[in-house]
Amino acid sequence: MISIAIDGPSGAGKSTVARSAAKRFGFVYVDTGAIYRTIGLAAMNAGADTKDPTAVEAVLPTLNIELKYIDGEQRMFLDGKDVSKEIRLPEVSMCASNVSAMQHVRDYLTDMQRDLARKHNVIMDGRDIGTVILPNADLKIFLTASAEARAQRRWKELQAKGITDSFEEVLADMKKRDEQDTERKAAPLVAAADAVLLDTGSLTLEESIDAVCRLIAERTGAKAVTA
Ligand code: DC
Repeated sequence: MISIAIDGPSGAGKSTVARSAAKRFGFVYVDTGAIYRTIGLAAMNAGADTKDPTAVEAVLPTLNIELKYIDGEQRMFLDGKDVSKEIRLPEVSMCASNVSAMQHVRDYLTDMQRDLARKHNVIMDGRDIGTVILPNADLKIFLTASAEARAQRRWKELQAKGITDSFEEVLADMKKRDEQDTERKAAPLVAAADAVLLDTGSLTLEESIDAVCRLIAERTGAKAVTA
């Protein structure tokens, strides 16, 4: 099986780039952030303080989380309900960042992620895929861009969904999550020593996708199945 790890901060374009590249090569795209978001949502719905490790730990055994592929798209289910849209709400982002800092949450999800890579050719995006989850990935890419460039993209996405947060709020939220994700003790966001660094700040989406696909083809010999 071929596995490609794409890590980096929020808004660097990981999910769009990884999804498109997976389509091009006929690989399975795994969005691991969506799994952390589902746990954040579950903890929030359960009324737990998502900053309190004991409260979040108490929620874990009650969780019924499923990751399914419907028409080739990853969907997240919580207690049988499709929550794929709900997990994108800004309030869930912060809960996801909070719970993702907890080692027991990360341990709870390790097998689920590795299992997918055992069964399929995958492009998996996240924060610790190259460093922790798939240390033997065939290719590791660290996608990055300045906080301003990333917040600009996220703000446009939210506006398109009718969410009216200001750019300043989105930027502040982005910086706060960066800080939390980078400075946490459990699997902090850091590029693997053998990762290829790609700054998407001055690239269009198409250019970023092409750069990643070129790296995948060169490293693994995989052939594109679609344009
Ligand atoms: O990529 P995202 O914004 O959907 O991720 C949501 C949160 O989950 C983010 O704050 C970082 C965390 N996360 C993580 O710690 N490890 C991963 N592999 C993926 C996401």
